[in-house]
Amino acid sequence: MASILRTSRTKPVWSSLARARFSSTAPKNTTLKERLAELIPLELENVKRVRAEHGKKSFGPVLVDQLYGGMRGLPALIWDGSVLDADEGIRFRGKTIPECQELLPKAPGGAEPLPEGLFWLLVTGEVPTQEQVTELSKDWAARSAIPEFVEEILDRCPPTLHPMSQFSLAVTALNHNSAFAKAYQDGVSKKEYWGPTFEDSMDLIAKLPNIAGRIYRNVYGQGKLPAIDPAKDYSHNLSTLLGFGDNQAFVELMRLYITIHSDHEGGNVSAHTGKLVGSALSDPFLAFAASLNGLAGPLHGLANQEVLVWLSKMQSKIGKNASDEAVKEYVWATLKGGQVVPGYGHAVLRKTDPRYTAQREFALKHLPEDPLFKLVGQIYNIVPDILLEAGKAKNPWPNVDAHSGALLSHYGLTQMQFYTVLFGVSRAFGVAAQLIWDRALGAPLERPKSYSTQAIEKIFKDKA
Ligand SMILES: CC(C)(COP(=O)(O)OP(=O)(O)OC[C@H]1O[C@@H](n2cnc3c(N)ncnc32)[C@H](O)[C@@H]1OP(=O)(O)O)[C@@H](O)C(=O)NCCC(=O)NCCS
Repeated sequence: MASILRTSRTKPVWSSLARARFSSTAPKNTTLKERLAELIPLELENVKRVRAEHGKKSFGPVLVDQLYGGMRGLPALIWDGSVLDADEGIRFRGKTIPECQELLPKAPGGAEPLPEGLFWLLVTGEVPTQEQVTELSKDWAARSAIPEFVEEILDRCPPTLHPMSQFSLAVTALNHNSAFAKAYQDGVSKKEYWGPTFEDSMDLIAKLPNIAGRIYRNVYGQGKLPAIDPAKDYSHNLSTLLGFGDNQAFVELMRLYITIHSDHEGGNVSAHTGKLVGSALSDPFLAFAASLNGLAGPLHGLANQEVLVWLSKMQSKIGKNASDEAVKEYVWATLKGGQVVPGYGHAVLRKTDPRYTAQREFALKHLPEDPLFKLVGQIYNIVPDILLEAGKAKNPWPNVDAHSGALLSHYGLTQMQFYTVLFGVSRAFGVAAQLIWDRALGAPLERPKSYSTQAIEKIFKDKA
């Protein structure tokens, strides 16, 4: 919606509303919830006006191929936090990744944006002050404890259960204390849905480091989980829980990592699943657990694990420091074996993913000589030409997952099966922001129409 606001130029009423809603910086001395309470009536008016002006206009034809083809390009959802352009990549509330890196508040001595600020931006469209971000860090620290029975669920999981399955189990179980589920049972009015949804969303984000840290330590045997420190920011606490809190560069990586993985508009599997399940008024814990199950697929979030698995297999087959020729042969063997090259291609993007570029720049600054980073670079010079020559993939360029594992691995987080959990922690920011707005705007139950192949044939036969 931010982009619609920006492209509308004519009506004075509209621009004053836009100014009231999306001044670029947040008013001081307000909490996120207070600011939301101010913005919601404006946005309700805004949506009403857009629907009155444009509600009956067509968005273009739907092709039968789109029904069979995973709905590629089908305009079907409202998603306010971010918009993805095929060539330019993601913008969070109209801001590119470099703009977020420049504008969002940072930790003292840090250079990367604090994800707390990104969440504020996703929810309100405004850049918060340093103080507002600090308050969010404190608020999330205060909400971070997970119920004892959830700890027990995690402690009872066999270490052979994939970390993403454990993650999804724990998030589902958080629904036990859902403010929204309770308010609904108590007969809350539709107009008030957003308040308990906001509380659940804040709790959800706040509790993820304790869940992720517990899974990591249970599965990989890295000692007792330390306590969350209310004086530290979210990424610092997450890093500490994973055992990397003393490494400032790793903490900075987490700040960047969570920011760039947070949201990628609404149609990707995890975002759309969260919105879909949320549309049944399932609470944010149930909705986001569903997102996680989608993120756990190898064509989506699990690709960050798959990239490292693929690189490791490559190294054991052709050795480290392999020649370009040997790498080319390995890539072709992957394709001829009927597999995808993980970390390459995208359903929307048609250029190198700016999330890949942001990670590459981080690596050039912090770990330019790392052998795995160099291999990632070598592959970047080889794979696109091969995918183009193979002629199937619409986008031969790398996506976010082609790079993240190499960075984590550099700092000693080498357990590849854990990588998608970190993606999941990040993705909660985008899904939660939209769930709050969906409840505030009264988004309806999702119920698109499906057709059988027989029905499609009949429709066109009858028309002929
Ligand atoms: C992301 C992805 C699922 C997008 O799928 P999509 O929108 O269907 O992509 P395309 O339209 O370009 O696919 C056309 C064909 O090219 C293939 N293709 C796409 N990317 C490919 C890749 N990286 N390696 C090999 N083949 C690929 C597809 O599998 C498809 O083959 P098919 O016609 O036999 O089914 C796909 O690019 C992929 O599987 N990439 C690897 C996994 C990955 O990195 N996922 C993370 C995404 S952020």
